[in-house]
Amino acid sequence: MPKESAKVTPWEVSGRVDYERLIKQFGVSRLDDKIIEKIGKHAKEVHFMIKRKIFFAHRDLKWLFDEYEKGNKFFLYTGRGPSGKVHLGHLGTWILTKWLQDRFNAELWFQFTDDEKFLFNDKPYEEIQRWTYENMLDVIALGFDQKKTHFIIDTKHANLLYPEAIRFAKKISFSTVKAAFGFTNDRNIGEIFYTSMQAVPAIIPSVLRKRNIPCLIPLAIDQDPHFRVARDVYPKLGYYKPAIIHGRFLPPLQGIDGKMSSSEELTAIYTTDSPKEVERKIKKYAFSGGQATIEEHRKKGGNPDIDVSFQYLRMFFEPDDRKLEQIYNDYKSGKMLTSELKEILVGKINSFLKEHQKKREKARKQVDKFLFKS
Ligand code: TRP
Repeated sequence: MPKESAKVTPWEVSGRVDYERLIKQFGVSRLDDKIIEKIGKHAKEVHFMIKRKIFFAHRDLKWLFDEYEKGNKFFLYTGRGPSGKVHLGHLGTWILTKWLQDRFNAELWFQFTDDEKFLFNDKPYEEIQRWTYENMLDVIALGFDQKKTHFIIDTKHANLLYPEAIRFAKKISFSTVKAAFGFTNDRNIGEIFYTSMQAVPAIIPSVLRKRNIPCLIPLAIDQDPHFRVARDVYPKLGYYKPAIIHGRFLPPLQGIDGKMSSSEELTAIYTTDSPKEVERKIKKYAFSGGQATIEEHRKKGGNPDIDVSFQYLRMFFEPDDRKLEQIYNDYKSGKMLTSELKEILVGKINSFLKEHQKKREKARKQVDKFLFKS
């Protein structure tokens, strides 16, 4: 697919994403060595997803750490649009968020945008409510600190969010939203309003404690446009602009274009998939950078850079740099076959999911404790 056709909006990601181009297009900053060093200095380690530039861009991180050094600590904010099952592609951002929570002892506000998914999808409200509950289990299973984590559900915490959302809405024009998201006149009016709901959690702790508190938002880059639109509004309302750290998309099974998507069953591995399903999906669908025959593969070697299984190891399942490099070299030289590479990945995913699914069941008893109570 030619680069020109790549599309990145909060509701659609397709084509070969050119991350360098996105940095310019979205007006964000590259996560350079200097800022990574700053993160390492305060966190006492650098997460492999940062080291490998899976998180590759940011807004205002330098400011955030300058404040931090003055003793002005930040809280974290991220979210989930509960439109269906959670898949591996969603977890990267949340795993980094959990790491940031641990390393910086930071409070986390986690927004479930049931309003968004009702407004933007053709699904009944009741179904979205069920996904909200199911998705909360996945977030809890990742091990967030219950005492420091607050879940907010847009329609359930409307008394908290709505009075703030209208302040954003009043300062964002229809033409701004149209330009940012490419909305046409036939879109429903809830969609037009929605960005103001997503902007709000970045100020909620400041509202509640009546003092300005810096905010860091880990997100996948497709969510950036909401905050680009809301950015100018924060200072107008008397708040800091939130800092952001932007992640790449986990590719779908079929190849490195686009992103893993919950609405396309066969592009994704869900957190609730059984070991057999995982094995079948990887073996049958994971796009391979290997050669057509074993003989050819031994001779020419594979291409790990376009191989989806290798990318999953690099982005998620093999944090050990030396092991990853070994796999890279062995695959590239032809010493390792596609079937062997896939075997490694299946093992990694299944041992991760085994633990995750256990914790996910336990989470049913914890949901209430994570829900914010005013
Ligand atoms: N809109 C996001 C989604 O569709 C959910 C979300 C809400 C979010 N607030 C956020 C994502 C803040 C990242 C950061 O999944």
